Amino acid sequence: MARLALFVWFSLALEAQVTNSLLNNEIKGINKTEQMPKNTNASIIHALNDLNEISDFKTTAAPVLSNNKTMTETQTLQERDKKPEDKAHQSERAGTRLRELACPPLGLESLRVRDSQLSASPSQRTGLGPQRGRLNIQSGLDDGDEYDGAWCASVKDRNQWLQVDALRPTLFTGVILQGRNSIWSWDWVESYKVQISNDSETWTTCMNGTVEAVFKGNNDLETPVLGRLPVPMVGQFLRINPQSWFINGSVCLRAEVLGCPLPDPDHLEPVTTDHLDFRHHNYNEMRKLMKEVHDQCPDITRIYTIGKSDAGLKLYVMEISDNPGKHELGEPEFRYVAGMHGNEVLGRELVLNLMQYICREYKKNNERIVRLVKLTRIHLLPSMNPDGYERAYEKGSELSGWAEGRYSDGIDMNHNFPDLNNIMWDEKEMAVDKSKVSNHYIPLPEYYTFENATIAPETRAVISWMQVIPFVLSANLHGGELVVTYPYDCTRNWVPQADTPPPDEGFFRWLAMVYASSNRVMANPDRRLCHYEDFQTQHNNIINGADWHTLPGSMNDFSYLHTNCFEVTVELSCDKFPHASELPVEWENNKESLLLYMEQVHRGIKGLVRDKETKAGISDAIIKVKDLDHDVRTAADGDFWRLLNPGEYAVTAWAEGYFPSTRKCQVGPEPRPSLCGFVLTKTPQQRALDARTKGKKSAKDLQVRLRDEQVRKLRVSTKRLNQRRMRQQKKSQPTRAQRKR
Ligand SMILES: *[C@@H]1O[C@H](CO)[C@@H](O)[C@H](O)[C@H]1NC(C)=O
Ligand SMILES: *[C@@H]1O[C@H](CO)[C@@H](O)[C@H](O)[C@H]1NC(C)=O
Ligand SMILES: *[C@@H]1O[C@H](CO)[C@@H](O)[C@H](O)[C@H]1NC(C)=O
Ligand SMILES: *[C@@H]1O[C@H](CO)[C@@H](O)[C@H](O)[C@H]1NC(C)=O
Ligand SMILES: *[C@@H]1O[C@H](CO)[C@@H](O)[C@H](O)[C@H]1NC(C)=O
Ligand SMILES: *[C@@H]1O[C@H](CO)[C@@H](O)[C@H](O)[C@H]1NC(C)=O
Ligand SMILES: *[C@@H]1O[C@H](CO)[C@@H](O)[C@H](O)[C@H]1NC(C)=O
Ligand SMILES: [Zn+2]
Repeated sequence: MARLALFVWFSLALEAQVTNSLLNNEIKGINKTEQMPKNTNASIIHALNDLNEISDFKTTAAPVLSNNKTMTETQTLQERDKKPEDKAHQSERAGTRLRELACPPLGLESLRVRDSQLSASPSQRTGLGPQRGRLNIQSGLDDGDEYDGAWCASVKDRNQWLQVDALRPTLFTGVILQGRNSIWSWDWVESYKVQISNDSETWTTCMNGTVEAVFKGNNDLETPVLGRLPVPMVGQFLRINPQSWFINGSVCLRAEVLGCPLPDPDHLEPVTTDHLDFRHHNYNEMRKLMKEVHDQCPDITRIYTIGKSDAGLKLYVMEISDNPGKHELGEPEFRYVAGMHGNEVLGRELVLNLMQYICREYKKNNERIVRLVKLTRIHLLPSMNPDGYERAYEKGSELSGWAEGRYSDGIDMNHNFPDLNNIMWDEKEMAVDKSKVSNHYIPLPEYYTFENATIAPETRAVISWMQVIPFVLSANLHGGELVVTYPYDCTRNWVPQADTPPPDEGFFRWLAMVYASSNRVMANPDRRLCHYEDFQTQHNNIINGADWHTLPGSMNDFSYLHTNCFEVTVELSCDKFPHASELPVEWENNKESLLLYMEQVHRGIKGLVRDKETKAGISDAIIKVKDLDHDVRTAADGDFWRLLNPGEYAVTAWAEGYFPSTRKCQVGPEPRPSLCGFVLTKTPQQRALDARTKGKKSAKDLQVRLRDEQVRKLRVSTKRLNQRRMRQQKKSQPTRAQRKR
């Protein structure tokens, strides 16, 4: 059984590599006229509207202080094409922030600089060699292995050096230094000199007027410190030469080097042909970009908000569909969520690129995109934690360190969803008949609906969103590693790490593989690992979340256990905050994966569950697949989607007051869903009950009622919290600037 599943999965993986697009022309929607009278239920959207007012999206308001960083980054890109003389002149002008970051990082952190470009005076050992001297590199928990948290010289004197070969003439403008990443050792460099060379034999020391420049280094392990060269210098090699270090430590450092490669006619080919807005967008710029996309494609886009952040920034969603604003019968709903950790910023930019791309390609009649838009309702949330993002953005791509901006008001949102795994497992352990324990739609725990529960407003907003829209598939975009993780994220019995597969492991592995195998960086067999964990050769770039490390309260597990939606996490890049100059190539690295992953929403089976007499769709009907211990439910109009790998399945539909109905449904290898509808007959008891309570709403089953009640409570408490926050914010109006901190 397991072997068969693996085979199916493997042959599908092959297919993904062969075909560029898994969707093909043959996809048909459910024939709406045939299946049901048109009654798209708008109450879904109204529920969301009631919850949080939908913004009319004026761009005139500027709730956050403007920030000059983006100017800097744009400037950087333009400057790369200028002559070095111009730049040197510019750099001589008074020190502004503009000058500070005038050249982009060479890429020690992003791994664009390869290990072979790094060398050093003798190192303490291999695990502390020059290849480890990269900004923000993370060590394993134990010191002493091959993957330690810095370059460390074996000798403690002033003749030690870490050398970077830029491979070509480069205008060097600065160095960023950081201490050693370790929980056991305290090592950092407090001051250093810089030498430049064209041939790695003759070295010129950077001067500060008439004396050799001595740069200020670190005072702790983690804070990156920027040293600007008083006069930028041209050369191919740069050496960092420590002068003093923490008194009880060794000569250890992690670094990034800033430099502009000098124009080279051989290196001018653009990395991407898509002309998208490749830069980092802060809150206001993000709003502006979304507005522009909407203005360009008003027929297929709609912007709405799902709530507000702790500091009052709105959580904007871009909806893309041929009929924006409503759920269409039989059309699956997809979402991308980015920026849950505010400092992991690549997902945000990729999602913004994606909306621009879809809009443009749709207008150009790109067949693949038109099909995707017509058959799917896509929701893009670029920034789930806008507060954290603004903090990281303020420091910038190189100086925000590893954790700045991860949290919202101290809360890690990926631990902040209710842990439904343990509720379900505990119940199963205690149950006499385990098959009676619900395996899906697990209700929120009672404490979670209290006003005083420690739940970020962003988490509350996302939960409400998940409850209102019948999402089928999602991905949660993170950064800092290169790997795709699938549920469960939480282990059983509080074990720190253990493979904990969900019933749908086969399909989840397929989903993870679709992304990983089409991502240009992950799929490159020659890539080096990001930090210390080897996901490539050991796991083929996909891993069960709990097998990496346990994570109770993750969004992925919650999505799977509380709603119908399957969700994986994508760790997009080693560098959490890549420099703006990396964005075009990152778009190319991820473009195919982002599209291909969305197209997976059209797999498995879908259909409509209807009442035999009235022909009306039945909401909340349960769809059970034999031997798969995870059900899904129909949406408000009776339509459902069940993601499945190819195979033959015995599927049962059942709803309160009806006889269950079972049929065989075949899922082929083609990338389109099989139609598998049901017509249910009312039980005589239900008929009698209906006759007695004519005109009144029929009693829903107990679990649905319980769930609805808890959802209602959560909304009430969220509303009260929001009102209180609004009052507080009104009282302390002038603190806008403070709130950014
Ligand atoms: C859909 O069903 C209706 C009614 O059965 C039929 O007239 C129509 O041709 C069908 N359309 C398609 C596209 O199959
Ligand atoms: C949509 O569903 C709600 C409740 O489920 C119901 O009150 C409403 O009448 C429905 N609207 C339509 C247009 O069917
Ligand atoms: C930063 O932006 C402000 C307001 O837009 C402007 O007044 C200021 O001159 C800018 N500073 C730099 C260094 O560009
Ligand atoms: C390297 O060569 C360039 C171009 O010839 C020259 O401008 C620069 O000063 C040299 N750098 C050093 C450190 O000698
Ligand atoms: C350069 O000299 C100035 C004036 O003495 C001093 O303030 C600054 O810290 C020096 N910078 C470096 C990098 O040596
Ligand atoms: C360095 O080590 C010595 C001896 O163990 C200790 O007395 C001193 O406090 C340490 N200094 C710092 C700054 O930790
Ligand atoms: C939180 O609120 C609930 C319900 O209002 C109450 O029962 C509970 O004692 C409160 N807990 C704390 C720690 O205040
Ligand atoms: Zn993350």
